[in-house]
Amino acid sequence: MAGTAFLATVPASVTAEDGRTEIVVNETERDHILQEMRGLLEAVHGILDGAMAEDFDAVAREASAVGMVLARDESPQLVAKLPVGFKVNGFAAHTAFDRLAQNALEFRDKDMVLEELTTILGACTSCHAGYRVVAEQQARRRKSPGAQIENIENRPGATRSSRFDRACGNSPLAPG
Ligand code: HEC
Repeated sequence: MAGTAFLATVPASVTAEDGRTEIVVNETERDHILQEMRGLLEAVHGILDGAMAEDFDAVAREASAVGMVLARDESPQLVAKLPVGFKVNGFAAHTAFDRLAQNALEFRDKDMVLEELTTILGACTSCHAGYRVVAEQQARRRKSPGAQIENIENRPGATRSSRFDRACGNSPLAPG
């Protein structure tokens, strides 16, 4: 039956009342995502701390801790639940942290670090403008009559890229 296949294989999302796309995951996955996010904010703090002290080894250490190494360790079950635009933006941010780490070591230039970090922060805020993370339990509890469960890939008129544009097309790291 089509409905069963949909539930089994396709990431579902809901458009929240505030217009953002809700990513529905289980509670453990939600905690994991948010914990990773707090780690990103800590890295931003560490990078700024390092840059102000012109300690570029520290800058590189902080930045590479939140590079692609984080995305590579992600569970396939969770990755399958994430919308394409979210993954593209997330990978771009992790890659940008790796690049910042490399450039910090190579050029040891505070302004360059600040410039790269500013661009990354634009990617943080554009993704936050596009998505929310909601635990399944929560989503079921407040299923409002207006909320439509939608199939990300097959939504009429929605292509992978149009979804990305709507959700986080303002990202300075958006593929060009
Ligand atoms: C790929 C999308 C994406 C990117 C990139 C991203 N975030 Fe997030 N972030 C989210 C989502 C979604 C949430 C959950 C928001 C919600 O549910 O309201 C979140 C939540 C957070 C939270 C709150 C954590 C908590 O415990 O509630 C912090 C802090 C945060 N992000 C920091 C950052 C920082 C700093 C960056 C950039 C270095 C960043 N994020 C990049 C999507 C992203």
